[in-house]
Amino acid sequence: MLDSKQLYVSTLIGVNWETPDWTQLKTTDKGKWLLERHSMTKRLKLCCAILDVEVLSLHRCDVKTLTESERNLLGYEVCLVREVILSGDNAPWLCARTLVPMSTLTEQEADIAQLGAVPLGQRVFTQANARRDTIEVATVNIDGNILLARRSRLWVNDKPMLVSELFLPRAPMYQEDN
Ligand code: PHB
Repeated sequence: MLDSKQLYVSTLIGVNWETPDWTQLKTTDKGKWLLERHSMTKRLKLCCAILDVEVLSLHRCDVKTLTESERNLLGYEVCLVREVILSGDNAPWLCARTLVPMSTLTEQEADIAQLGAVPLGQRVFTQANARRDTIEVATVNIDGNILLARRSRLWVNDKPMLVSELFLPRAPMYQEDN
């Protein structure tokens, strides 16, 4: 993995997540990106011709490595960790790290462990009962760039996963008109 990609992933792991100020964020274009409740993949696809997913890592994590807030949101369980970079027309836009409890990867959802380059949102939001509930946000400073991040819990067939997303400097949310 290239150093910058590793830096994005480790930044996401160390973020201090905060409850968003919904009233304030709803009034700004960047805030609307952060508060998106439906598919981020779908939203990003509207801004490019080709959206690529590069899987950086897919591994199991020990329950002991989950933070207290991750345990509160997901329960005390071994998780599959999926780390990806999403690029729009070859520009890196988003680094995402998703924790999927093993009990989520059952029955109809077993395939989520084998998505490969298929974006998670493309798979999850085909399900009519998919929903996102807790959204938290953060700002991070990477090499002098102030970047935005969010963490949200997704449910599919009433089974949870936790998605952390770091919006990289070339992401459409930082460009005007998006
Ligand atoms: C993923 O494929 O893991 C993925 C894609 C888009 C996101 C988050 C995660 O916004």
